[in-house]
Amino acid sequence: MQRVLVTGGAGFIGANFVNHLVAHTDLQVTVLDALTYAGHREAVDGFPSDRVAFVHGDITDAEVVDRVVGESDAVVHFAAESHNDNSLHDPRPFLDTNVIGTYTLIEAARRHGTRFHHVSTDEVYGDLELDDPARFTEQTPYNPSSPYSSTKAASDLLVRAWVRSFGLQATLSNCSNNYGPWQHIEKFIPRQITNLLDGRRPRLYGEGKNVRDWIHVDDHNSAVLAVLQRGRIGETYLIGADGERSNKQVVEQLLTTMGRPSEDYDLVADRPGHDLRYAIDATKLSTELGWTPRYDFDSGLAATVEWYRQHEDWWRPVKEATEARYAKSGQ
Ligand code: NAD
Ligand code: DAU
Repeated sequence: MQRVLVTGGAGFIGANFVNHLVAHTDLQVTVLDALTYAGHREAVDGFPSDRVAFVHGDITDAEVVDRVVGESDAVVHFAAESHNDNSLHDPRPFLDTNVIGTYTLIEAARRHGTRFHHVSTDEVYGDLELDDPARFTEQTPYNPSSPYSSTKAASDLLVRAWVRSFGLQATLSNCSNNYGPWQHIEKFIPRQITNLLDGRRPRLYGEGKNVRDWIHVDDHNSAVLAVLQRGRIGETYLIGADGERSNKQVVEQLLTTMGRPSEDYDLVADRPGHDLRYAIDATKLSTELGWTPRYDFDSGLAATVEWYRQHEDWWRPVKEATEARYAKSGQ
């Protein structure tokens, strides 16, 4: 394997993955990214041109996809519309990118016999009760709740069907909630960090009881690389780092870390259909591939706060518009 195509490589997780590949492998990388509102060219600038090439293009464009997949030995597919709240207001781009875009990529990978890794989410499994000790495993039945998660579930099923029907050389991974550098400030943790840096109060949906299973983006990406290099074809691997916390706990921790009273937040309108709890059992990944996470949440969160403090030039231009969109839904 010499050249890897990273779709969505200018987005949050994809850009960190490109960094990870440059730092930890000799692979050459091609990024294919449409630079939607969530894509940032500067996140993958500054690498030597013999390590990282950038192609500005859409994964639903069969011609460009056929060309870049044909030039690559493997595809790691991150590109997606990724935000649940946006999918509740306008689902159509989620169908186009997440379903048709994935279909376009796996057809090209099938034609060229290219190794394919599909990056997906734990949200395909629906949610768990707050008091249920269970966690998601690779055997948990699919039960997605939102337009976002249902299109991701559809894309997973397409990849699985292409493995079985056409012998596509694919693996899949489903990860829990990521945090770290370059995450768009529409998402929970960077929204609250930038609210606090901006002198605003954090905004918790509903009563703040919903639980997410947090993992640092670098731990997600080291797991994706392990699956790409050593995963069994046709298999799904769940990725998680035992990081369950309620949203209220996370906001209180941010407030304390940033020197404010821990009750200094607002409860706002809940998300319609809001999933209660996600939790990952990553036993298969750790026993089969020997993967372990490196970050602990407390130091990872403190480093993330510092990153947003240092990168105000990057997030400031979109802060007002992001908050104005939320204000329309009372959030
Ligand atoms: P993101 O929204 O930050 O980035 C998405 C990237 O894809 C952007 O660079 C965007 O420009 C690009 N893109 C969107 N539509 C495109 C199209 N039609 N053609 C080409 N490029 C396009 O997303 P993210 O949070 O980095 O998520 C990346 C992947 O990881 C997604 O597949 C998501 O479902 C999955 N995932 C995310 C999380 C999380 O916590 N963020 C957790 C598990 C899985
Ligand atoms: O579980 C993996 C998923 O995690 C990924 O597939 C998605 O791409 C990613 O966006 C994320 O989905 P969530 O919907 O869990 O993430 P979000 O950051 O939008 O919200 C996290 C939790 O915080 C959720 O319970 C909603 C809540 N929330 C969110 C925002 C933006 C708030 O309480 N206040 C907020 O302002």
